Amino acid sequence: MTITIAIPKETKPGELRVAITPALVSRLTKLEATVKVQHDAGIGIHAQDVLYKNTTIVANWRELCADSNIILKVQPPTEEEVAQMREHSILISFLYPHLNHCTVKKLLDKKITSFAIELVPRISRAQDIYCLSSQATISGYKAVLLAADNSKFFFPMLTTAAGSVRPAKVFIIGVGVAGLQAIATARRLGAQVSAYDVRPDTKEQTESLGAKFFDTGVQAIGDGGYARELTAEEKTKQAEALKKHIASCDVVITTAGIPGKPTPKILTKDMVEAMKPGAVVVDILAEMGGNCELTKPGETINHNDVTIVGPVNIPSSMAIHASEMYARNLINLLGLMIKDKTINLDWTDEIIAGSVVTHEGVIKNEQVQKLLGGKI
Ligand code: NAI
Repeated sequence: MTITIAIPKETKPGELRVAITPALVSRLTKLEATVKVQHDAGIGIHAQDVLYKNTTIVANWRELCADSNIILKVQPPTEEEVAQMREHSILISFLYPHLNHCTVKKLLDKKITSFAIELVPRISRAQDIYCLSSQATISGYKAVLLAADNSKFFFPMLTTAAGSVRPAKVFIIGVGVAGLQAIATARRLGAQVSAYDVRPDTKEQTESLGAKFFDTGVQAIGDGGYARELTAEEKTKQAEALKKHIASCDVVITTAGIPGKPTPKILTKDMVEAMKPGAVVVDILAEMGGNCELTKPGETINHNDVTIVGPVNIPSSMAIHASEMYARNLINLLGLMIKDKTINLDWTDEIIAGSVVTHEGVIKNEQVQKLLGGKI
């Protein structure tokens, strides 16, 4: 069977990324696949159709789906888009099945095998597939630039004829992939950086980047060594320690998430009101509920003379590199599915089994079944 891989133009407002960049098409053709690209798919990364060499350019989604057996996307498809996909074809994209019931229902109706890229398990073997990490790297970097852009002060220490300037004090909450990148970026800009996480391993990682670890005395390790939710007592202890430190900082960047759980509210209204006038908060998890009580997703607000930035879809704002990294993640996943020019889904592989959502008209993934709680 010929393998035809489709690369659509994303339709969600504000989404500039594309699933495969022109330079990476050759990785698909090496798998002996034919590649179809929707007209203007790469426009958000300034890649005109002509750059997609060795592909067929088609005018619209319907033509793209007509004879494709694999569709690679960034955003979840709409119900209408799924309606035009071929029965039994394969879809790989972000899916968030618990938020997109209608799309999932349609995927089931059409017996499409869908993979939610955000469900790829956090295991060492999946590191080069794990899109949440590649995109978090971008969010961490951009968060610092947003903070600098929204501040009315320098980040580096300066000694000039017009006097000396102290470095900005930047505090990063959550030292995961995004937090580490935020630390590194703030350090490159010359800020005095401190950071905090509930996982003790992050102390050494923070210090290796030249930042200071702020210890609240609260550690919270859950399954697989990842963060767990804090108890009420731990939350109080954490808040008391953080409030004092935050009051001395010029910038706070929050990146703290807990896999599969609501985003913890760490920065309270009280803490914001204790911050210096002119201070800046960037809450990179704004779309997921935010770490700051006052964050408004997609808005930059002012509370008590403190600017709170709640960016949404940060990776899209750096669509060129975000797409390149995302595309490599997808290709590495495809490498597990295409063997000897044939699509072969090995359900004993925990990456395949962990990220599948629908297959042959059923929800194949137990984790997703639980997440949907029988709603579909
Ligand atoms: P994440 O995006 O889930 O959370 C960000 C950070 O927030 C984490 O470090 C977490 O410990 C911290 N956090 C959660 N609640 C907090 C609280 N109340 N106060 C302070 N900090 C809090 O995490 P991310 O970036 O996905 O990575 C966490 C770790 O997992 C990293 O060491 C990363 O290298 C590893 N990882 C491994 C993967 C793999 O092997 N494929 C994939 C993804 C991450």
